[in-house]
Amino acid sequence: MFLGWKPHAGQRLFLETKVPIKVLACGRRWGKSEACAHEIVQTLNEPAPREVLIVAPTQDQCLPIFDKVCEILQRQTGGPAVLLRRSPRPMLRYGGSRLLARSSAREGRYLRGRKAHLIVVDEAAFLQSPVIMETLLPMVADTGGRIVLASTPQGKNHFHALFAQGQIEEGRVWSQQCPSWQNPLLSPVQLDWQRDSMSGQQFGVEYQAQFVDPAGQVFKSEWLEKAVKRGNSEIDSDAPIVAGIDWARYHDYTALAIAQGYRSHAVIRAVYRWHRVPWQAQAQQIAQTLREFHVERALCDRTGAGDAAMEILEPLCDCPIEGIVFNAAHKGRLIDQLALVLEKGSLGLPNEEALLNELRFFEAVPRDNGVKLSAPIGGHDDLVIATALALDALPAPYHTPICIAGKRRV
Ligand SMILES: Nc1ncnc2c1ncn2[C@@H]1O[C@H](COP(=O)(O)OP(=O)(O)OP(=O)(O)O)[C@@H](O)[C@H]1O
Ligand SMILES: [Mg+2]
Repeated sequence: MFLGWKPHAGQRLFLETKVPIKVLACGRRWGKSEACAHEIVQTLNEPAPREVLIVAPTQDQCLPIFDKVCEILQRQTGGPAVLLRRSPRPMLRYGGSRLLARSSAREGRYLRGRKAHLIVVDEAAFLQSPVIMETLLPMVADTGGRIVLASTPQGKNHFHALFAQGQIEEGRVWSQQCPSWQNPLLSPVQLDWQRDSMSGQQFGVEYQAQFVDPAGQVFKSEWLEKAVKRGNSEIDSDAPIVAGIDWARYHDYTALAIAQGYRSHAVIRAVYRWHRVPWQAQAQQIAQTLREFHVERALCDRTGAGDAAMEILEPLCDCPIEGIVFNAAHKGRLIDQLALVLEKGSLGLPNEEALLNELRFFEAVPRDNGVKLSAPIGGHDDLVIATALALDALPAPYHTPICIAGKRRV
């Protein structure tokens, strides 16, 4: 069946499982590229024409699987039945079937609208969640096709969510945790050497395929889970409603968050964002949303273009719009305040994937002159900033004075 290749036990189980979504959380060198290449060959060998896609964060990361597939097919056929093109993007034709390799970072959005019978995503934990959820999954939905997501873990992000789904949901999603030592060819001496040369946490992620939050992650995954479970609960419907607005710069989004409650315990009622919409139209939509929610006060970032945007928004609104000029210290205070209420479990969040992803990926990176708080390169943090501003716009909690001595004891 595998032309002399013998899968190890973990690979065999993976190859024999036929469900729509397969998730492999692998330690380094487990043999995921080999296993995925054999999965692709099985599909290309089916009698009907098949469209197969390899996706990884960069084109180079697609190549180990693509090259392995070429090697297996050439061994299988002796060469001539395989038509191969390597540039501008790798493509292989095999009978009536086709295999393409694409980078998600450069071409993710151009994949929309295509169909596939099998998609193999390598380093899936490092792709942006919308590429998987909104672009790739729909591509196999109407062909009855399958998607394989293989990766070393990267914290408790969307890849972890799909992995966790596979652990509880039988039938549609299947997942397997694959420590490196399941590959019998891996030398135990090499593994021991790796164990000694890195931290326990790093070894846990890289070789045991454990899902651990990265060291720089500001908002821990369990805080976010708790916040989503808490949702809208326990906030008085008469409590003040405010908004936070982060204006777009260059490639960013303009983001709006609506919060209700007090700074010590609140809920985020809704979040919105706009991309490449003219300032006037953005301002009108924001003003309309503020009116719908009966927002009493809005706080926005007036740094740079924010100043002009605020001037357009102000006359359209019934409530006061206050601007703050952002600097690193200010940002640090707002982010600390948001982290504190999330850690205490006193902020409810809506189950909005865009917001949760920005929070998960938001990181603190040490620099010579302090700590840089932002999204990783290529990511966004507009919704995080709008949420932090909304929280800051809420009134401080009201404390009833308690006198424990004297005549007016309360
Ligand atoms: N069943 C097998 N039989 C023989 N060799 C195998 C088998 N599975 C994997 N290998 C070998 O083990 C090594 C690691 O395999 P592979 O490159 O597929 O692992 P990987 O999990 O993709 O690694 P990485 O973490 O570097 O991406 C390679 O040299 C590969 O040829
Ligand atoms: Mg590999």
